[in-house]
Amino acid sequence: MNGSNTQDVQFEIINYLDHSYKKDVKEEIREGLTARQKTINCKYFYDARGSRLFEDICTLPEYYVTRTELSILRNCAAEMVNFFDSGDLMELGCGSSKKIEVLLDGLGGDRRGKSSYLPVDISETAVIDSSRALTAMYPELKVTAIVADITRQMAMITTERPCALLFLGSTIGNFSASERFDFLSGIASSMKSEDRLLLAFDMVKDIGILEAAYNDSRGVTAEFNKNALLVVNREVDGNFDPSNFAHVAHFDEDNLRIEMHLRALKACLVKCNALEMEIAFEEGETIHTENSHKFTPSGIEAIVGQSGFNIEASYSDPEHWFSIMELSAV
Ligand code: AVJ
Repeated sequence: MNGSNTQDVQFEIINYLDHSYKKDVKEEIREGLTARQKTINCKYFYDARGSRLFEDICTLPEYYVTRTELSILRNCAAEMVNFFDSGDLMELGCGSSKKIEVLLDGLGGDRRGKSSYLPVDISETAVIDSSRALTAMYPELKVTAIVADITRQMAMITTERPCALLFLGSTIGNFSASERFDFLSGIASSMKSEDRLLLAFDMVKDIGILEAAYNDSRGVTAEFNKNALLVVNREVDGNFDPSNFAHVAHFDEDNLRIEMHLRALKACLVKCNALEMEIAFEEGETIHTENSHKFTPSGIEAIVGQSGFNIEASYSDPEHWFSIMELSAV
């Protein structure tokens, strides 16, 4: 579908978020909001506005995560893509195109010309913006944009050519232990012997640094957190008023994770018309909107080993704040 008339269609877009997926969304939101600890799955942060707010977070002085990961990629790009000759580079939860640019530069024009880039994200704007930027920068690269929910739809997304799978940003930290195991072992069992997964982990570090990263002074993370309510309003025809909720983020030392919540500032009743229900909030009650797990070296070894991977290489920054593992399937 290479459009002849506009520059905007130099890449193909495949959207898996169909009608039956939308029904799953409603059910998932109902389940979360009727649980004793109310929850909204963190993937609902990422509509167009949420994806933009996340890009803003990535540039905040307190949010060391993206900056640190990019420094590792810049230092090690050539080595990290050494295993890859040609085939498919598939990036899960791609967000913006910044990180893949560094790896594509490491690949060089010859290998890029024989390869395809497949960004996968739940946000259509994120994959389109990223694909547009990349096709402009690398005319030799074939790009196929995939809009999908990686927490549910991995089985639908397959590639036959040798594949470099990228799951960066420490997005794996958003999963619970069981979600993480299911997700990673599913990937491991679908990987061919020559395939590699580049998997990024944010490491445990000083609590002050961790908590500042999720409580930035400009309040961007608070806006991002509250954006989940606007997404829910749209998905289930609800009437959440974000100004009735406060952003809360703290490090839970028992579970080694940042927890983000939205705390009701006063008792309120929220209507969700598409679910035909009303949800009552007590003053001070919270909606749990995100876990962002932080990892230790031994924890990472256990996780990747149990999921069916061999560690081929690992890359880190001098302070060991962040790690990128290069993994093959056992
Ligand atoms: C995109 C999942 C890596 O957990 O740090 C940023 C999302 N949440 N600030 C993270 C996020 C609050 C981010 N990840």
